[in-house]
Amino acid sequence: MQKTIKFYLILMTGLLVMSSFAVTDSPAGMKLKMPKKIDAIVQSKCYGCHNSNAKFDKPKQKLNFDELSTLSPDKQLEKMKDFASVVEEGSMPPSRFLENNPDKKLTDDEVAKLKKWTSKAVKKLSK
Ligand code: HEC
Repeated sequence: MQKTIKFYLILMTGLLVMSSFAVTDSPAGMKLKMPKKIDAIVQSKCYGCHNSNAKFDKPKQKLNFDELSTLSPDKQLEKMKDFASVVEEGSMPPSRFLENNPDKKLTDDEVAKLKKWTSKAVKKLSK
């Protein structure tokens, strides 16, 4: 019984410590964290070409969602500005790709969500 209580105490302390690290709005800049609904859009419409294991180098050099959160705040800001502008221009996913994959086109609703979030992230990172 004693042991069980000790175990839970340690577990609770561990969780508390971890959760205090999860919210890092440190002076060095915020850690970019995508809300679930944004992450879901990115996963289905962007991630295929913009990840560490993507087939082509160019898109992942421009924007790699796997390393976004590890970049310095300055770099993150740069990437988020690019992200915002491709959404604004409607240039991603590339139109040549959409010819064969029309289901990958961003819907109006997704565009609206991405615009809202990217502009918020840019603002936050610019502080
Ligand atoms: C089929 C592959 C593919 C998909 C899917 C895709 N991209 Fe790209 N992306 C590219 C390529 C290729 C480039 C490089 C284009 C160039 O430099 O001309 C690129 C470049 C970019 C850039 C840099 C633009 C610049 O001007 O430097 C951003 C930002 C970007 N993509 C965001 C996105 C977002 C956001 C999505 C999802 C909505 C997305 N991409 C989906 C292939 C893709």
